[in-house]
Amino acid sequence: MALRKLVAGNWKMHGVSSDLEQVRAIAAEAARFPQVDVALCVPAILIERAARAVPGFAIGGQDVHQAAKGAHTGCTSALMLVDAGAVLTIVGHSERREAQRESDDEVKAKAEAALSVGLSVILCVGESLELRESGCAVETVVAQLDGSVPSNLDGEAELAIAYEPIWAIGTGKIPNSGDIAEMHSAIRSKLRERFGSDGEQVRILYGGSVKGSNAAEIFAIPDVDGALVGGASLTAGDFIPIVAAAAASTVEGGRVIA
Ligand code: 13P
Repeated sequence: MALRKLVAGNWKMHGVSSDLEQVRAIAAEAARFPQVDVALCVPAILIERAARAVPGFAIGGQDVHQAAKGAHTGCTSALMLVDAGAVLTIVGHSERREAQRESDDEVKAKAEAALSVGLSVILCVGESLELRESGCAVETVVAQLDGSVPSNLDGEAELAIAYEPIWAIGTGKIPNSGDIAEMHSAIRSKLRERFGSDGEQVRILYGGSVKGSNAAEIFAIPDVDGALVGGASLTAGDFIPIVAAAAASTVEGGRVIA
């Protein structure tokens, strides 16, 4: 069954007050496509201002700490994200798995912490170029997924998976459609094995160099239920064509984020 598409922007370490203008423009233009769920994951310090700027539009974080509170200098808890107005968060992005050496166990704990307070989660997985070239991409990503997904999907908040091949992030390169289809199908099988029929409802996003010019082709691939977009999510001019492509390929039904 095809799911309703989710197009989420990941602003990474971009965004200051003057960029709220783009948040407003994206929210206003995204409203023209009610058949698609659209979200923006902004820097933690911008969440509250972004959420106030666009009431009802889904604003999210990019990471969350697994502990409820405590001596964790510089970190943000799930409740703090909710308190600031976030309705979702990314966990396990490859930039954090690499730079902050986040393990599958930590990513799992972060996802569980977020879901437990009602934050929806976009959990990222993806292989390096070396693993892709050695023919181990599928088994690597499936193992990463198995180690990172929460123990159960109880509760109202949504889990989505983002498949982001590390070598496709910010490079302008994307896997061919067959490789994306193979990976998304393997992810779907693992989700089904872990969660039974609930695994059919988990949206699987593709991320890595998604642009207005390639979005339609990506959204036409089976089991691609949306996109996680970096560079092309920073302005309405670049982002909205991706939302429009999702709308053009979309179906009724599925879960609604936020
Ligand atoms: P780009 O869209 O800039 O390649 O980034 C993808 C990404 O990392 C989204 O999380």
